[in-house]
Amino acid sequence: MSTNAIHTQANIYQSKTAPALLETNAVVKAYGDVHALAGIDVTINSGEIVAIMGPSGSGKSTLLHVLSGILLPDSGSVRLGGDELTSLSDADRSRLRRTHFGFVFQDGQLVPELTARENVALPLLLNGASRNKAIAQAEEWLTRMGVGDQAKKRPGQMSGGQAQRVAIARALVHEPDVVFADEPTGALDQATGHETMQVLTSTCAKRGMTLVVITHDVKVAGWCRRLIEIRDGLIHTDRSISTPENR
Ligand SMILES: Nc1ncnc2c1ncn2[C@@H]1O[C@H](COP(=O)(O)OP(=O)(O)OP(=O)(O)O)[C@@H](O)[C@H]1O
Ligand SMILES: [Mg+2]
Repeated sequence: MSTNAIHTQANIYQSKTAPALLETNAVVKAYGDVHALAGIDVTINSGEIVAIMGPSGSGKSTLLHVLSGILLPDSGSVRLGGDELTSLSDADRSRLRRTHFGFVFQDGQLVPELTARENVALPLLLNGASRNKAIAQAEEWLTRMGVGDQAKKRPGQMSGGQAQRVAIARALVHEPDVVFADEPTGALDQATGHETMQVLTSTCAKRGMTLVVITHDVKVAGWCRRLIEIRDGLIHTDRSISTPENR
């Protein structure tokens, strides 16, 4: 596939005529009788910091999986930088996920046998970096996330908040175009959750990475600049938000 549009992100951001970074049209996904997504049209531009909220079972995770090419919709279109994701082969879609996307999940999903720096180095190693270079970059990112002192510890030896910062470093280390986070603060206490969101949103904003975060917590969503509410597999509201946190 052509990735021209992705390599000229700055142009996309500045020009209204350039293709959106991520765009869906009439996306439908059913599991048997359950219509998880019932026709989603959404456009996300480069550099946006977006929260997705909605009741349990409304389709948030399914939408995230479709946007990130983890899951193919039953019908409809999903484009990244103008290129149709749904027509790529499985191999091309996984390559694209490895190079252009980063993921953060509720429970971190770090590899328990590896140290923090080895966990963060993984995406770089998968993309072909040498071990020394990958470890050096991983250590830089751990420091940037405020957990440089945890580099040689395993996930089981860290607090939940520290492990989640390591997970964020792993999601960002290869400087993806889009970071997808599914309830990244769901397993943390409120104060730690807010610190985590602060570091995630400010780092993405500083580096021009697009961020899509699912959350149940309206205060966590307040760190984002746009709020999309999903109900019954459809977009219920989609608006800009202004809060003390996102200014
Ligand atoms: N693999 C699956 N097999 C069958 N049904 C599924 C599957 N994944 C999701 N569903 C159903 O699709 C609907 C949407 O699920 P989804 O996980 O997207 O919701 P969600 O908004 O992320 O919910 P939560 O806030 O609880 O995480 C739900 O009714 C769910 O039961
Ligand atoms: Mg979910």
